[in-house]
Amino acid sequence: MSSSNAPTREGFTTTLGVLAATLGSAVGLGNIWKFPSLTGQNGGAAFVLVYIVCVALIGLPVMIAEFIIGRRANANNVGAFKKLAPTKPWYLTGVAGVVAAFLIMFFYTDVAGWVYSYAFKALTGAFANADSTQTADIFSQYIGSVAGPLVWQWIVLVVISVVIIAGVTKGIERMTKTLLPILFVLLLICDVRALTLPGAFAGVEYLFKPDFAKITAPVILAALGLAFFKLSIGMGTMTTYGSYIGKRENMPVNAVRVAMADTLVSLLAGLAIFPAVFAFGFQPDAGPSLLFITIPAVFNTMPFGQVFLTMFFLLAAIAATGAMISLLEVPVAYLTEEKKWSRFAATIFSAGSMGVVGVLATLSTSTLSEFTVFGKTFFDLFDFASSNVLLPVGGILICLFAGWKLGPATIIDEASNQGALNNQVFLKFLTIMLRWVAPIAILLVLLNGLGIFKV
Ligand code: PFF
Repeated sequence: MSSSNAPTREGFTTTLGVLAATLGSAVGLGNIWKFPSLTGQNGGAAFVLVYIVCVALIGLPVMIAEFIIGRRANANNVGAFKKLAPTKPWYLTGVAGVVAAFLIMFFYTDVAGWVYSYAFKALTGAFANADSTQTADIFSQYIGSVAGPLVWQWIVLVVISVVIIAGVTKGIERMTKTLLPILFVLLLICDVRALTLPGAFAGVEYLFKPDFAKITAPVILAALGLAFFKLSIGMGTMTTYGSYIGKRENMPVNAVRVAMADTLVSLLAGLAIFPAVFAFGFQPDAGPSLLFITIPAVFNTMPFGQVFLTMFFLLAAIAATGAMISLLEVPVAYLTEEKKWSRFAATIFSAGSMGVVGVLATLSTSTLSEFTVFGKTFFDLFDFASSNVLLPVGGILICLFAGWKLGPATIIDEASNQGALNNQVFLKFLTIMLRWVAPIAILLVLLNGLGIFKV
């Protein structure tokens, strides 16, 4: 697997495998941790609405564009741009994607470590009978310590390295195909539990009854950033996975399925969390700590709370794992194909550096909590720089590359499987989105949200 031209280059073997892997990348802490906390902080249903618009109008076209670039080139994220535009600096878009993968992993593995440890803690009854003051204490003690979070972060890295070393088919495809159904079942059980609580309806209203006055420029940027982060786009993860998609697969349909199923998982996570939060009189705007302070306290107040809590963190751990696998695959595919490293060496090097620099994010809640750059801790800086800056910028470049450099004829040829699929009208519409609507919309939202330009 050392050369991108090798006939033995691995790939996903079935339509279901393609869906499982790409959906496994999209579904993650984004659904269970970021979506509820951002929804709670940005006013509930209005944010959800803006988010869904961002997914449909911007996220979906960008995802299809990445699939097109990846499969057309049959190469990793940097190699793909080099192959399709050999003389131009477009490959820097791919390089930015590899950088973004590292930035995300620095903090994502930290939070995933919290989740793993919480699944373990819940299983061993650490939260039994704890109220929200006690769960807040447990959380601040945990993230304020040094050894625990670091050890869990490294355990996470070892787990995903094992999957990545096993390869695209035997590792990624098999793992996600097994884990995703388990995740759905666990989530549905938690939903039924939360929705049958007395007073649960307030949480449903909070998620679905918008107050339009809450829609402001920073809210729209947050929703757009979340759409990129959620769908794993703007940085070449879907380009890399696109390169593993077989020539006969229907990529636009797969993208629609991923966007819809992923949004459904976010809403289901919201429906497991907010009704319970309201039913027990907690505040929905606790932010990132919602998952770690509010949820254990909320679950404690219900019958069989410990069982549901364990299930909930287990499902969060499963979701996080599928997403991190795809993040690690980006540099691994790059190093094996462009630099001819072995898969083993590429994985150890990438995961190793994520583990080393990731320490900065992990210590942001303890030893380095006072240390800020641009007013942000390392953790917040990695998060903001990736989701709200690099991914949208990457998204603009991907739209422009697909829409203008590859152009309508190539887009239609590749995404219709050389005319075999009857989707040309949709693809013409897609081309317009990629050439004009998506890049302009992303740019406006980005500049506006960053306060560089006001409409
Ligand atoms: N989509 C993942 C989530 O929502 O948790 C996070 C993610 C995975 C972002 C892969 C970017 C990426 F390339």
